[in-house]
Amino acid sequence: MLLSKTRLLLIAMLCVSINGFAQKKTINQRVDSLLRLMTLEEKVGQLNQYSGREVTGPVTDKKTNQLNDIKSGMVGSMLNVKGVKNTSEIQAVALQSRLKIPLLFSLDVIHGYKTVFPIPLAEAASWDLDAIRQSAHIAAEETAASGVHWTFAPMVDVAHDPRWGRVMEGAGEDTYLGSQIAKARVLGFQGEKLGGLDAVMACAKHFAAYGAVTAGRDYNFVEMSDHQLWEQYLPPFKAAVDVGVATFMNSFNTLNGIPATGNSYLQRDILKGKWAYQGFVVSDWGSIGEMVDWGYATNKADAALKAIKAGSDMDMESNAYRYNLGILVKSGQVDVKLIDDAVRRILYKKFELGLFDDPYRFSNEAREQKVLNDPSHKLIARDVSQKSIVLLKNQNNVLPLSNSIKNIALIGPLMKAKRDLEGSWIPQSDTTQVTNLYDGIRNKVGSSANITYVKGTEIHGKEQDDFAGAVAAAQKADVVVMALGEDWDMSGESKSRTDINLPGRQKELFKAVSATGKPVIVVLMAGRPMIFDEISDKAQSIVYAWWLGAEAGNAIANVLYGDYNPSGKLPMSFPRSVGQIPLTYAGYSTGRPVKKLSDIKYKSAYIDMVNTPRYAFGYGLSYTTFTYTDMKLSSASMSKSQKINGCFTLTNTGKYAGEEVVQLYIQDMVASVVRPLKELKDFQKVSLKPGESKTVRFVIDNEKLSFYNNDLQWVAEPGKFRLMIGSASDDIRLQDSFDLK
Ligand code: BGC
Repeated sequence: MLLSKTRLLLIAMLCVSINGFAQKKTINQRVDSLLRLMTLEEKVGQLNQYSGREVTGPVTDKKTNQLNDIKSGMVGSMLNVKGVKNTSEIQAVALQSRLKIPLLFSLDVIHGYKTVFPIPLAEAASWDLDAIRQSAHIAAEETAASGVHWTFAPMVDVAHDPRWGRVMEGAGEDTYLGSQIAKARVLGFQGEKLGGLDAVMACAKHFAAYGAVTAGRDYNFVEMSDHQLWEQYLPPFKAAVDVGVATFMNSFNTLNGIPATGNSYLQRDILKGKWAYQGFVVSDWGSIGEMVDWGYATNKADAALKAIKAGSDMDMESNAYRYNLGILVKSGQVDVKLIDDAVRRILYKKFELGLFDDPYRFSNEAREQKVLNDPSHKLIARDVSQKSIVLLKNQNNVLPLSNSIKNIALIGPLMKAKRDLEGSWIPQSDTTQVTNLYDGIRNKVGSSANITYVKGTEIHGKEQDDFAGAVAAAQKADVVVMALGEDWDMSGESKSRTDINLPGRQKELFKAVSATGKPVIVVLMAGRPMIFDEISDKAQSIVYAWWLGAEAGNAIANVLYGDYNPSGKLPMSFPRSVGQIPLTYAGYSTGRPVKKLSDIKYKSAYIDMVNTPRYAFGYGLSYTTFTYTDMKLSSASMSKSQKINGCFTLTNTGKYAGEEVVQLYIQDMVASVVRPLKELKDFQKVSLKPGESKTVRFVIDNEKLSFYNNDLQWVAEPGKFRLMIGSASDDIRLQDSFDLK
């Protein structure tokens, strides 16, 4: 029985791969025949991408007549054009060109198309890979139904610096978590197969090391050891390659003196060489031209030369390829084989999407209407929003709120906000449909409680707007809920901040309200980790709600009233002070570690602050409690070809059903390269009823013990390893050690 099942499976797998192989062969043949018909100018045209009217970067060449260029086959792709009507109109122009090669339409669908999902950093806090995959999939369905073929997501840049505004677009600081999320997002966007009507091409960006821009200032330079690059910054990109990501985007930063766009080591040696990547690389917006500003190229022609040689296939908005590549080929400076290779990669994707068989495949207005108005999408958004919320503090179990509370004061500049809860990158949202926190709570309590609302101050307010009103409302209330944080335009691209404290006079508003002595629950909304020490010290409860999108208010209200028991865990360390940045849980011991807080003389410490974050990576509370007991390892040692099986018991010891993200960390005690104090190597989200226990199993293999040595070889070195299982990176509940022989 077992044998025949296995056999059937093998036959099925063989058929799939034969089909895949056959399809690849036919596409390659079609690409080759088309390539033979193309003039040099038409080839260069395929490498050129223009933006539609809604720009997402500085406009580089206002004189371009886009429609003429499209008609003459000088454009391969358009970004920032959306909707069946618009994309079809422009596709029709492309089909008037000599070879009728269809355009690729692309857009930044970062956290939802019409239905706005939580920002990616928020979703990362769910540690729920199925939910993240589903969120990307709904975004893909809506995008594809709107005539768009390609999203510039996921951003898989690891980042340790919350001053950098783009942390909102990624999965936080951790390489392992980031790699798992990268896979989930790519699989979600691309569905079962490219060409499916519910799938769009994904784009792993920004290759590479953009998340390490110096001092958190956007578009800045990066200096980094190879060792750090390979170990911390590249794995999420490799993970995306492993699950078949269709495209890559390079980045604005330099890496050790070479702009990423002109970086042959990154694009040719690693991506297209070592990783044998078959998809194509689009430049970031204008980044080919920007090599002139960097002082790396003398002019756009030189920039085009350097970029094509380095492996950038498509030029987004620089107009550097369009006007220079043909000349460079004719003058013998660029081998036409480089152009052919880039064109081949792009045409392959157009065939794979089915655009040569039907250029209007994704252009059905009735379907667009149906998919964009599918009511199930909001419910899915609510579900992932709830999962993204992190409960940071809950003194005396003030939360969840009881339904019998009669008088509630709702205070703060974000209480009735809608646009701010969406964050940046919202291609097609109807902001009026966002449920703000006020409405979320109102819907929840109905007429059973009296609600008083006072805004109190503006987000950036400088004056003491209505502190008196806020205090008076708090005095009359049984409980106060405050909504504070950043406005939508404070985190995102080009939104770096040197000061990540709450803006304006929100802290003062909190102090005034808190001084009434009433229980205060603070809901913080932002696109990054913020600093809010006073609130951490004095608020009874703190709910970190990021920017959750369309269903924010309902999701937060569900958490406040216990209809959803929070399960989110921080995907990034929250510093106490900007002075601690860059900050990561995966730091090193140093030669002078602090062993006692009272003894920091000649130790690796600050004299004015502890080293630890305010809230650590992996941290997040629940309304229930979990105990970790009884860890067992199948062996105290293993060889490289062996594994250790481990297990422990997780018990819900509280009153509420809940989910716990159990985290497995490993430390290599002594190695040929100094290793971090702990590194996340596995996690599971486990759901338990009150009183219920489950056995959680894990496996330790050679892969989990490996790292890049000084010669950049991926090795596991014999010796002792510490194993830590915990509820957060700073809350380790079970420990053991084992040897690698
Ligand atoms: C961003 C990319 C984005 C592109 C197109 C650039 O400024 O860095 O992430 O995909 O614009 O909008």
